[in-house]
Amino acid sequence: MEVHKTMKRDTKCSDLGEANIGQEVCVAGWVNVRRDLGGLIFVELRDSSGKLQLVADPNINKEAHQIFSNLRSEFVIIAKGKLTKRPEGTQKADQSSGTVELYPSEVILLNTAAPLAFQLDQAASVDEGLRLKYRFLDLRRPEMQHNLRTRHNVTNAIRMYLDKAGFIEVETPILTKATPEGARDFLVPSRLNPGAWYALPQSPQLFKQTLMMSGIERYYQIARCFRDEDLRADRQPEFTQVDMEMSFIDESDIFAVTEGLLKDAFAAAGFEVQIPFQRMTYEEAMSKYGADKPDLRFGMEIKDLSSAAKTCGFKVFKDVVESGGVLKAICLEGQAGKKSRKDFDAYQDFAKEFGAKGLAFLEFNEGGVRSSGIDKHLSPEDIEKMKELAGAKQGDFILMIASPDKVAANVMGRLRLKIAEELGIIDENKHVLLWVVDFPLFDYDEEEKRMVAVHHPFTSPRLDDLDKLKTDPLAARARAYDVVYNGVEIGGGSIRIHDRGVQERVFESIGLDLANAQEKFGFLLKALESGAPPHGGLALGLDRIIMLLTGSKSIRDVIAFPKTQSGGCPMTEAPSAVPAEQLKELHLTVKEKEKVRS
Ligand code: AMO
Repeated sequence: MEVHKTMKRDTKCSDLGEANIGQEVCVAGWVNVRRDLGGLIFVELRDSSGKLQLVADPNINKEAHQIFSNLRSEFVIIAKGKLTKRPEGTQKADQSSGTVELYPSEVILLNTAAPLAFQLDQAASVDEGLRLKYRFLDLRRPEMQHNLRTRHNVTNAIRMYLDKAGFIEVETPILTKATPEGARDFLVPSRLNPGAWYALPQSPQLFKQTLMMSGIERYYQIARCFRDEDLRADRQPEFTQVDMEMSFIDESDIFAVTEGLLKDAFAAAGFEVQIPFQRMTYEEAMSKYGADKPDLRFGMEIKDLSSAAKTCGFKVFKDVVESGGVLKAICLEGQAGKKSRKDFDAYQDFAKEFGAKGLAFLEFNEGGVRSSGIDKHLSPEDIEKMKELAGAKQGDFILMIASPDKVAANVMGRLRLKIAEELGIIDENKHVLLWVVDFPLFDYDEEEKRMVAVHHPFTSPRLDDLDKLKTDPLAARARAYDVVYNGVEIGGGSIRIHDRGVQERVFESIGLDLANAQEKFGFLLKALESGAPPHGGLALGLDRIIMLLTGSKSIRDVIAFPKTQSGGCPMTEAPSAVPAEQLKELHLTVKEKEKVRS
């Protein structure tokens, strides 16, 4: 390396094109590929903007050729020279700088690179753990650079939109008190208060409500949230929300602001979306699509065949419906004769995994009806009625499940998605955004044997359902809404309770008596009786949105330094043991048998 020599880059690779031919330029970056053709040596130079071809010809510049002959992948160089046109036939139309090349008059090797843990262009076939361990290499890949840039562009568009709409960004604490969002908290021991713990925020929920009570009126924050929950492709223990709250508004204001924001955010990633978004009640979503986040890029609606089941000759169907259950079906258009017994058995196993006792099918062929053995119990009228209710015609195949409503909806919803994927009927070019509204306020938690808030306990009940808090709480609807994009929940929020009496009643419904509520949320109750304005808001899952906009399979691909499924960071090796001294300062001891290696 020639540390004594200096040169300074003046241009990025992809800023160069035919307009710059003949100009003296200086570029720097990483050796993406080197090809030695005996005489000429070609180097594809890569920087954060793109690539440029450099050529060393021993007859033109011996010194440059000598340096080029020792280059390896990911070495760092800087080179200057006059830009020339690439010969016809060797131009790359898909690169902005693909029509030009540089024969350097001067080259400096700025740094070498040890043998790589993996070749950057092989990343797709490399174990993700290795990519995460060597994230500094992984992030050099153009795909990852694109993801981070898209993330920046989208976040920037969001900030500009919210600023224009009169929102101000306020930062809220990271060291805070446990909040009940449903997940487990990450705790931080307090050195100054032995035995006391901070919790990392699961969301800024209570702070943003407090800000409304402080007269801020329009708040937003690109906020980091922490939830110690089981991880999946679309979940991380720390993730980012676009968090918003507004005062003196109702649902229509939140919808309008969010729709405008998402329109700009999608445009920043090159997608056009239509506003306003469609709206659907939770009840309709569950009954037609078996999910509170329906994917509307395809049909295959779930149909209710209960009225046919009630009068049919098949006892199993009849009994289920008579005891309060339902018979639900989906119709696989044109699939008669195309599904084998093995296919059906696989669907049935899948259905059982999610709580169904069984699954049945009926298929309408030219030659007659084929079924999973149920047609012998059914009259031709029963079959005709089922066919009609399922919306089936000749050539179709229907899958049916008889069970309690919740199980039937859930299983059918999952089957609908699985089969649509199998049949390839999901239009990947469609962008369907919708609001799901009128969620129930409470759900019954079988494990905890108590009611829990579906969104969170600060969500206002619908005013016309206030009386149900006492009489029929599970039937009370919430002023809560989710925004769903192609079947993924990308955000959720609600109009909040701004009346202390109502807040106490909701706490009571979820088993939080006044003393407990005081201890956990004393400050909120005080603020609520100190001139709290009506308010509401929403939080969007930024990582999920970027994942979808970049066509990534996992949110890990749009987060610079994500955690693995087991919550670790292979690069820094967090979490890790800490010295005994540090634990002592924090008034902590770790049981000998539970110690991790230091
Ligand atoms: P909620 O819990 O619905 O609402 O979260 C809002 C959005 O955040 C995203 N999200 C996640 N993304 C990645 N990893 C996770 N572990 C994760 N958990 C949630 C989802 C979700 O829609 N305080 C309320 C909002 C409000 O009422 O204003 C809240 O946090 O996209």
